[in-house]
Amino acid sequence: MGEILGRVVATERRPNTPHEFHFWTALDAPVGIGTIVRVEGTNPVSGHLPRVYGVIVEGFSYSDLETPLHDVLGADGSPDRASDAPTRRTEIRLYKGAVLRHVPDDPLQPVPLGSVFLASEQDVAVALRMDAYMKEGQSTGIPIGLYRAGAMASPIFLDADFLLGPEAAHLNITGVSGLATKTSAVEWLLGSIFAHFPEKKGTVAALCFNVKGPDLCFLDQPATRLEPSDLELYDKLGVPPAPFANVEYFAPYTARGYSLNTLRSNESLSHNLRPLTWGLREVLQYAEVLLNKDDVDAKADALIDFIRERVVDQDFQDAALGTTPHRVQSFTELERFFRELLRAMEEKNQEQWRTHHVATIRKVRNRLTNISTRCRGLVTDDGTVSDLPWGAFQDRGVYVVDVANLEEDAQDLIFARVVTQLRERLEKRTLGVDHVVVFVDELNKYAPSDGPDTYVRKMLLDVAERGRYLGLVLFAAQQFRSQVHRRVVGNSGTALFGRMDSDELATPGYATLAPATRTKLATLDKGELMVRHPHFTQPVFVRFPRPAVLSGREGVEKFPPAEEPTLDEAIVRALRPLDRTITLDWVKETIALADEDEVLRARNRTLQVRPDDPKAFFRAQLKRRIPAETVAPRPRPAIRTSPNDDPYAF
Ligand SMILES: Nc1ncnc2c1ncn2[C@@H]1O[C@H](COP(=O)(O)OP(=O)(O)O)[C@@H](O)[C@H]1O
Ligand SMILES: [Mg+2]
Repeated sequence: MGEILGRVVATERRPNTPHEFHFWTALDAPVGIGTIVRVEGTNPVSGHLPRVYGVIVEGFSYSDLETPLHDVLGADGSPDRASDAPTRRTEIRLYKGAVLRHVPDDPLQPVPLGSVFLASEQDVAVALRMDAYMKEGQSTGIPIGLYRAGAMASPIFLDADFLLGPEAAHLNITGVSGLATKTSAVEWLLGSIFAHFPEKKGTVAALCFNVKGPDLCFLDQPATRLEPSDLELYDKLGVPPAPFANVEYFAPYTARGYSLNTLRSNESLSHNLRPLTWGLREVLQYAEVLLNKDDVDAKADALIDFIRERVVDQDFQDAALGTTPHRVQSFTELERFFRELLRAMEEKNQEQWRTHHVATIRKVRNRLTNISTRCRGLVTDDGTVSDLPWGAFQDRGVYVVDVANLEEDAQDLIFARVVTQLRERLEKRTLGVDHVVVFVDELNKYAPSDGPDTYVRKMLLDVAERGRYLGLVLFAAQQFRSQVHRRVVGNSGTALFGRMDSDELATPGYATLAPATRTKLATLDKGELMVRHPHFTQPVFVRFPRPAVLSGREGVEKFPPAEEPTLDEAIVRALRPLDRTITLDWVKETIALADEDEVLRARNRTLQVRPDDPKAFFRAQLKRRIPAETVAPRPRPAIRTSPNDDPYAF
């Protein structure tokens, strides 16, 4: 039963209702805003003594003074003489509780007068209805943090059916930068999901977009500092304090094309970093992502469709373009196709070509060829594709796509294609896993409440509204929830709040919170969260441990990003993970006669094919082009060589 903590009070002016009650406590009672309590009624209803669980949402303190004047007079106007007063004033602590649950819940009545107790661990489970999904042997609970009150601590679980579908899904986290611990909370929760996702629900993977600096670049590296208090939390919540075991990184090349555009470029971490490159075909499928923003209309859309379906990747023949068929596989070839087409039309003074007006053709040409410039590094001119492992996603795998240093266009294209692929493959059950959590940080940038209706925003909305049936789950974080599209936040079943900005708290979205709860939110400590979840009638406060992975800031100190390489170095760096015997000298010698584009193309092909003998394959890629040259190859100049196993060669 525990010790009696307080007594319910109700007056005519301040009566109890079914959803709200008041109680007083001793001055030293270990309660505060957010504490969960149990009320024991004294009069049976239909044979049961009513029990009510509630959470404290407001506190009052006062004495029997009618006005402050009496106190001033009592102390003779001098604050330091308050002790002269003949009697000590009685001070009252009065709390307002919001009801979490009635037992029995029918008939629903006002909270009865009765004794108030601090909730025990079991009470907390009942109060938050966790008993319904924490049944022995068929639990779907995912630990989110530890609730503490006085000496009592109780793990709080989310229901996987409501966090990852199908009942409800998605998670949204809000709070000020640097203090709300948003990114950390998501990292922690992913670890918790991987440890507790119920077996009968199948497999789960995570796809994270790294949108800011080195934030998510070291998810496979252990944290440098976990305090004993963190380890205790890991232990109590049953999650191993370890980094993610299976992480793969993807990043496009820089505009120059030598190295990958990511802060995770330290050579000792190259084993699970892969290029993300797409060719003309992949990009054309999503051309509308970039073109929608401009003034592309139905006429242009029709031409793009035509090019996509009838021209690209096939022998295209047309009277206007002479007798030899055109084979368009890259942006360069597409540009040539347009050039010849427009020249032919000009010569014949033609305004139309296959129902397309010359102005439309010009416009589409500009827009399309622009994409490869705007998205250099992502879009390869030779059509080499290096992509996420579609179809082979692994259970408990984490796939990080680094878009932090990219132009907005390239980011949009990546979002659109990756999320659409996830969607389509989950629909057809050909992804490799049953559930995917997509983590998008800085959501207010990608799904803002105002501004134009971009493709990316529409897509995020679609995931938020329909993803749960497919197992596609959105975890999103932002500083200001009020600046995110309402239907995206509205559809996330679970909402977390870290330390909040008080201006943000003053916006209408937070009007349902009691003023004291808002105050608590504005002063939350790092590692503390307020949790809203469909099973919880009222928000609860929990604490979670520091993530067990290396933070971005510490990561770049421990693994400094590599300097921008020369071409030779870039090739060594790219191919070494395939074959450790590749040295700088070998590369220098091999590429001596080739031009830069050719070398980069050979590298891309080698990385795409991942052949058994990378050296021979790479060399063959360069050789292939030699017969096309008219001059016979000169004998190679003598170059200083070093033995294959020379450890100082690079
Ligand atoms: N559970 C925790 N307890 C205490 N400090 C934490 C906890 N989790 C993260 N931190 C610290 O809080 C800081 C901000 O965390 P971060 O997740 O980057 O915040 P945000 O994404 O909201 O900007 C980091 O320095 C991190 O080490
Ligand atoms: Mg962050």
